[in-house]
Amino acid sequence: MTWAHIENVESLATSLRSAASSDFGIFLLLCFAAALGLAAVIIGAILGIAIPGARRVAARTDPARQAVAKAPPTDRPLLILYASETGNSRELAVAAGAAAQRLGLKVRVADMAAITVKEAAKTLDLMVIASTWGEGEPPPRAVDFYRSLMASDAPRFDGVRYAVLALGDRAYANFENFCRLGRTIDIRLAELGGTRMAERSECDADYESQAGEWIGAQLTRLGSSETPVLVDMGTEPASAGRTHPFDAVVAEKSNLNGAGSTTSTYHLSLSPSDFDVPYEPGDSIGLFPENDSGLIAEILSVAGLSSNVALRDSMRTHYDITSLTLSQIKAYAAFTSDPAIAKIAASEALAAEYLEGGRQLIDLMAAAPVRLSAEQLTSLFRRLQPRLYSIASSRKATPGQIDLLVAAIAYDAFGRL
Ligand SMILES: Cc1cc2nc3c(=O)[nH]c(=O)nc-3n(C[C@H](O)[C@H](O)[C@H](O)COP(=O)(O)O)c2cc1C
Repeated sequence: MTWAHIENVESLATSLRSAASSDFGIFLLLCFAAALGLAAVIIGAILGIAIPGARRVAARTDPARQAVAKAPPTDRPLLILYASETGNSRELAVAAGAAAQRLGLKVRVADMAAITVKEAAKTLDLMVIASTWGEGEPPPRAVDFYRSLMASDAPRFDGVRYAVLALGDRAYANFENFCRLGRTIDIRLAELGGTRMAERSECDADYESQAGEWIGAQLTRLGSSETPVLVDMGTEPASAGRTHPFDAVVAEKSNLNGAGSTTSTYHLSLSPSDFDVPYEPGDSIGLFPENDSGLIAEILSVAGLSSNVALRDSMRTHYDITSLTLSQIKAYAAFTSDPAIAKIAASEALAAEYLEGGRQLIDLMAAAPVRLSAEQLTSLFRRLQPRLYSIASSRKATPGQIDLLVAAIAYDAFGRL
């Protein structure tokens, strides 16, 4: 690792921050999916954390392992292991690693893509931070590790104390698949002899504060800290992308399908303002979309809030106003006295049936309209999440430009397009 790498990362973070203050209409977030491993190594070097490749844990014999096991808490090796595709779990792991290091713990942060299960089983304390992808699957980078962990010849985790933080998103998953990777790993580590030191925490899209509190609680215990450990979320260099999106204009939009085609595939050409986005082949980009003004007006009307201009503006860019999950059904049931909604909210099976086929929040609200305060209405929304697209261009061929191929999918769900 050279200082040149570190300077690059710092200037990248600065560029992202300054670019975030310009005025164009579409918000973009670059996700360095393909470069995660490299980024983890660079960030590890900045924070002084041991990362695979940067430092290896020395092999131990059993007597040595026993000696370490009896050592004071700060001498027990702590492995923070993450499974991530777009960086959320990685950012949490890096922040947890930095906090653990400040406590004086002997910590190593590792990507599941860069460590073997055998190596992981050598630690004494283990914190797993795992995101679920696909339909209840591991992120592609973590598949090999996951398969080895689930295999019949997986190494034992006897004597390893562990805890699992699971990241997921109810808008992407049914009940069974929500946070499934974290849940499966938690169960598997116990089967392999590990000792669960804390209950698993399952986080939805707005994960930061729940995850931060959980990590803080684990580190407080592991470091025998007299004061609760606070974890700095979003202040590490790794957070520059997601928490500091930059702006761009849509320079070109054309439908590549012929006039007679029943489908639409768009070529979108984006121009980030004054900023050469340093993407690599295979990277994804996250777009924060703007909500439909017709849908915003309909929701405000049902809630009796049509005259609230500030709320209408914030609904355009801040909130996910379409998704519907069981927790939102429960929250709405508390606002209305409708018995049918109360019944659905009380049963996971009925809720799964109700959500089948793509019902949205407005469908629920329109079924049992009730006047709400602005605070009550916004409490029903989830934070707007970026949508990820693979980049279809090369910086060498078209510098200063990002091209995407986007297939438009349109279908009717309960009378709405
Ligand atoms: C295409 C896609 C599929 C997903 N599938 C699931 C899923 O099956 N279960 C779940 O709980 N979350 C699912 N998620 C949500 C992610 O787990 C969540 O966004 C997480 O914060 C991503 O973390 P990462 O940045 O560390 O990869 C999915 C997200 C996307 C974009």
